[in-house]
Amino acid sequence: MTIRTRTCQRLAGGIVPLLLALTSVVWAQAPQPAKGDAKRGEYLSKAGGCLGCHTEEKQGAVAYAGGRALKTPFGTFYGPNITPHPDAGIGKWSEANFFRAMREGKRPDGANYFPAFPYPSFTAINDTDLRDLFAYLKSLPANAQPSRAHELRFPFNVRFGVTFWKMLYFKPGAFIPDAKLSEQLNRGNYLTNALGHCGECHTPRNFMGGPRKDRFLAGGMGPEGKEIPNLTPARLKKKWGDKDLTDFLASGLTPDGDEPSAAMREVITNTTGHLTPADLAAMIAYLRSLPPIEDEKK
Ligand code: HEC
Ligand code: HEC
Repeated sequence: MTIRTRTCQRLAGGIVPLLLALTSVVWAQAPQPAKGDAKRGEYLSKAGGCLGCHTEEKQGAVAYAGGRALKTPFGTFYGPNITPHPDAGIGKWSEANFFRAMREGKRPDGANYFPAFPYPSFTAINDTDLRDLFAYLKSLPANAQPSRAHELRFPFNVRFGVTFWKMLYFKPGAFIPDAKLSEQLNRGNYLTNALGHCGECHTPRNFMGGPRKDRFLAGGMGPEGKEIPNLTPARLKKKWGDKDLTDFLASGLTPDGDEPSAAMREVITNTTGHLTPADLAAMIAYLRSLPPIEDEKK
């Protein structure tokens, strides 16, 4: 054996493991292909109204690239970029990061999200649906627009403060169907409360921004001082039959030709207007099954 081949062998002996080590580093860093069904996830994203809060309100805004201003009594939140951009969006996230955000309201670094992100509702989304939602977000074109910082008043700008809010008002956990109820009512409950987060507006809040359990979906004064209607059978447009309600939630049409206000118009355009007829029927059947709660005396 000449010296040259020996050097080559020695070199190769060093290089092969090195190459292997390098490729395994590359493999480990390559984004994991999402396991869920992106097509199903697209429908779920509509049922969850993700687009509205995560897309700026202007012509030509890039879907899901963030920038939407959400005014609240605590200040203005901006929906972040949730496209798969590695720096501006959630491109580096694992599925576990996504589950933790949606189910527990926690960032990958463990800090709390503000409940302006409706995770108190989304926590109830089941595992299959979370997986599919994540696959859908991962399938979007990555966009480099940086997320905008929220503009909140002290003390509401302190993420740590959310810990106390969560202790009082947040119960993490996926929706558990009630075996005593029909499949349709369970589906309607899930669509209304887990994905549709209708209670985020239709359940009134106390001074700490906590939902009032005793007035679940019973409406009241909204944060902008406008009355939000009661969705329980005590009030829900008593004159409206199922067909009227379906028309309203599918297209915003009302029997007397009124236009819904901007907030509900957006829910119809982004969310309920995309539901399949079966899902819409389930939602309405569920609303009809709620315990009736009368409006509060003013
Ligand atoms: C009512 C408005 C609203 C809706 C609807 C909404 N989000 Fe958000 N989302 C937010 C806000 C605001 C934040 C930022 C919260 C914070 O910074 O603490 C956020 C944060 C997130 C984050 C974390 C992003 C990051 O960079 O840390 C993810 C992921 C997310 N939302 C996914 C979704 C999905 C999926 C849906 C639909 C099922 C959805 N959101 C619907 C308002 C919303
Ligand atoms: C962003 C806040 C918001 C969310 C989220 C929201 N709504 Fe509404 N909704 C409103 C407002 C405001 C009105 C009053 C509309 C008007 O006066 O034109 C309304 C009106 C309605 C009405 C008409 C009731 C009546 O008696 O006039 C129905 C039905 C309804 N919403 C159902 C839903 C359902 C179902 C969901 C969940 C998929 C939902 N809403 C989510 C704000 C919201």
